[in-house]
Amino acid sequence: MNRFFVIALSMVAWLSSAVAEPGDAARGLRGFRICAPCHSLEADRNMTGPSLAGLWERRAGSLPSFERYSDALKSSGIIWDDRSLDAWLTDPDRMVPDNEMPFNGIRDPQHRADLLAFLKEATKPGAAPQMRAQGPMEGMGGMMGGGRVPNLKSLESNMQVKTITYCHDTYRVTTTDGKTRAFWERNLRLKTDSGKDGPQSGAPALVPAGMMGDRADVIFAAPEEISKAIEARC
Ligand code: HEC
Repeated sequence: MNRFFVIALSMVAWLSSAVAEPGDAARGLRGFRICAPCHSLEADRNMTGPSLAGLWERRAGSLPSFERYSDALKSSGIIWDDRSLDAWLTDPDRMVPDNEMPFNGIRDPQHRADLLAFLKEATKPGAAPQMRAQGPMEGMGGMMGGGRVPNLKSLESNMQVKTITYCHDTYRVTTTDGKTRAFWERNLRLKTDSGKDGPQSGAPALVPAGMMGDRADVIFAAPEEISKAIEARC
């Protein structure tokens, strides 16, 4: 074998290992677990990141209902398609320096091809509700579940907050079922959700957080409700 032939053969071997086989949407659904805590597939259901519904052919940073895009992404001029999404998922910081997606990228070309095969189907208009009906999002579990957070509009009595008192370093939260729980002040987070999953105004929700049972969130409908709801009393 002459030298040129050896080089040509090793190029072929390298190329065929670098080029992924066609993406497998079923494997891609599993891959979506790393995106699901931040991205939903339902139109305008935004979380840390924008909803990915209707992603293909969309201009980067252009979903009107998402208000936290970085200037870098908004001014990137990218149109999302197979190629640009592959580059974004390989290394977001390289493609759009100063973007604000807290994600390092997926190095394995096959994992990216699988994920994109899944996303291309799942982000088509009308696809998300149908997928839910078929249930492939099940098993993603609770708060992480495929972009679902619990709806707090109607609450069980053990979650509906009646009063909150504050004494020294302790919050005591009484729910409408009459139970009172005490939290070290650093373990109770006071949050708001003004969206359609948020609580009714004046009816904040107590939501467990973390594994040990010592932490929780109280979620209010609006920031001005927070200090009004807390009574300093020992
Ligand atoms: C920890 C949260 C987080 C994770 C995990 C995450 N993203 Fe993002 N994503 C964001 C944020 C925030 C933005 C907006 C970035 C900006 O404006 O610079 C974003 C932007 C995007 C965009 C651009 C959307 C648009 O409207 O222009 C796409 C596409 C995207 N992410 C896909 C994914 C995929 C696919 C995954 C999983 C492999 C993923 N993201 C993982 C938070 C996340």
